[in-house]
Amino acid sequence: MSKKRVFVSRKILESGINLLKRHFEVRVYPKDRVISRKELINGVKWCDGLLCLLTDKIDKEILDANPNLKVVANYAVGFNNIDIKYAKEKGIIVTNTPGVLTDAVIEHTFGLMLAISKRIVESDTFTRKGKYHGWEPLLLLGTQLKGKTLGIIGLGRIGSGVAEIAHKGMGMDVLYHDINRDKGFEKKNKAKFLPINSLLKQSDFITLHVPLLPSTKHLIGAKQLSMMKKTAYLVNTSRGQVIDEEALVKVLQKGGIRGAALDVFENEPKLARGLAKLKNVVLTPHIASATIEARSAMSVLAAKNIVNVLKGKKPLTPVKGR
Ligand code: DGY
Repeated sequence: MSKKRVFVSRKILESGINLLKRHFEVRVYPKDRVISRKELINGVKWCDGLLCLLTDKIDKEILDANPNLKVVANYAVGFNNIDIKYAKEKGIIVTNTPGVLTDAVIEHTFGLMLAISKRIVESDTFTRKGKYHGWEPLLLLGTQLKGKTLGIIGLGRIGSGVAEIAHKGMGMDVLYHDINRDKGFEKKNKAKFLPINSLLKQSDFITLHVPLLPSTKHLIGAKQLSMMKKTAYLVNTSRGQVIDEEALVKVLQKGGIRGAALDVFENEPKLARGLAKLKNVVLTPHIASATIEARSAMSVLAAKNIVNVLKGKKPLTPVKGR
């Protein structure tokens, strides 16, 4: 019997690819760029299982390209790039990579929070430019985290992990908002559940950990930004479209909030006009999960999901759809 075929839409860490190669004929898209639509369709036509990235739009056309396609394994925990409903209708299993990147994203969230509040990137540029002429009492003053209030929007694995470190490690008070209330979590982390508007008004730092859904698109727009304290910071490691980026730029330009630190953008890889010119932002290129540990584990988990489905077993982390 001929081997089943797996197409991988871009080079990822070898760990998962090697696992796939033990079972299947594997083709990895050879160019180091986002695969074109045509090339993706050709890849899908060839395979039984697809390992794709969040930069690949997996819509009806792609899902219809091959009646033998059994599984689409997304190399990400977020799956807003995939038409889950249609895949389900067609009986194509979709999987994602939850859990294995949680720590990396939590750490990046704190990296961003510290970078913006302690003005680390601005200070680095200042120092490199030869502007440091000696210690000064008022030089590049920032904001301390200890004793401040952190508002967490979205209490999944990442949001609750951020809360725990904020409370136990950084001495912050935690507020949260989610579609579900978790009293055990509240007790453990002395956290308080609030409606979103109250959270926006009371927090010194706000961090977003929601999936991108129709209900979370532009969850933070001009109105919500206007509710935030003038001294507050906004951090986003979830999905760019959760924030109305144009509105954010306007608010930052007029000092409506003190700063923002973003790993994700509304129209990636493009940035909203004016964003990159601002001093009160820290911007990273969607790398919150980009540790060797997380990306390697994502590679293995995505591969294991494909192995299971193509061998007739249940996937480890199927996307159930909403
Ligand atoms: C995800 O997994 O959804 C991140 O955005 C990329 O790792």
